[in-house]
Amino acid sequence: DAAKSGYDHYMKKEIHEQPRAIRQCLRGRVDELEGHIALEEVAALEPEGTVQFVACGTSYHAARYGARLLRQRGVQTQSFLASEYTADAVPVSDETLVVGVTQSGETADTMRALREANGAGATTLALTNTVGSSAARECDHVCYIRAGPEIGVAATKTFASQQVALALVAGALTGDASPAFLKALRELPDQVQTILDSSRAREIADAYVDADAYFFIGRGDAAPVALEGALKMKEITYKHAEGFAAGELKHGPLALVSGETPVFAILTEGSKLEKTLGNVKEVEAREAPVVAVTDAPEKVGRYADHVLEVPSSHPQLTPVLANVQLQLVSYWVANRLGRSIDKPRNLAKSVTVE
Ligand code: G6P
Repeated sequence: DAAKSGYDHYMKKEIHEQPRAIRQCLRGRVDELEGHIALEEVAALEPEGTVQFVACGTSYHAARYGARLLRQRGVQTQSFLASEYTADAVPVSDETLVVGVTQSGETADTMRALREANGAGATTLALTNTVGSSAARECDHVCYIRAGPEIGVAATKTFASQQVALALVAGALTGDASPAFLKALRELPDQVQTILDSSRAREIADAYVDADAYFFIGRGDAAPVALEGALKMKEITYKHAEGFAAGELKHGPLALVSGETPVFAILTEGSKLEKTLGNVKEVEAREAPVVAVTDAPEKVGRYADHVLEVPSSHPQLTPVLANVQLQLVSYWVANRLGRSIDKPRNLAKSVTVE
């Protein structure tokens, strides 16, 4: 219990360690005066071809987010579930950069994908939390996310640190990091702290602990966080949860929406908020309760039953903040249900079989 520093669970402790984790990830890597990102680890890389991401689970959601940030800076990207990646079918050339996102650096599916990529002549970069891990050793380059050890099986602070590290990689690889982006990166730790100090996630969890299922929707940069919100809910509550790019709701999942299925909608500036509001209206017409996770409560508050507010940030970084609210909701639902939060049934922290 001493190791939990007074928290009931490692997961809660690690959620609360996120400001520090992000600060460590940023330390010495952002030069606001010079207006650039100093990431030695990728300085030698000038990707001429496609950047491919390979990852599993939560890390795959971070990879999807990172791929978007690069794409918005003019780089061609692809993201793959590592278990679905086959280097000869993709295809890979010596101009391809393959980024393995893996907090443990030991996930078998990700390792196989990285080995194949190396074998096919790609340049490889490991984005990992674990110094000296298999991924760190296998890859040509390594960038540490510096989150500190994570004990809870459900990834929390490592996801936040992956998002921030990928934002750094995107800025460093392209040289495209505006003063507003750099300032927003610096402000992130304090903003996460503000959420931790003021979140109403516990009330929301109390209100919806008996729901049949939970849906999570978001667009653009917020879509990977919708996927992650649902994965976290499944992992630690054992309840049915699904995450979608908001526009997909009407192409099938809407059939499952009822008054017993709360919908968590990420409605942040820069994630096509007006369009997602259209989806919110569709679920409300089916009587689903709506929880808006938003930095624009004045715009969206009247469409939601509850609001979980996040501070304003750069639109590409708001998803980092929105995710913290969703982590807290899952934590409190699992807590109310008396689940084994730090060691959910059937799951392992690191999966070393394919
Ligand atoms: C396991 C864990 C997940 C994690 C995934 C990938 O399934 O339970 O939380 O996201 O592995 O782990 P990695 O270490 O590669 O990030």
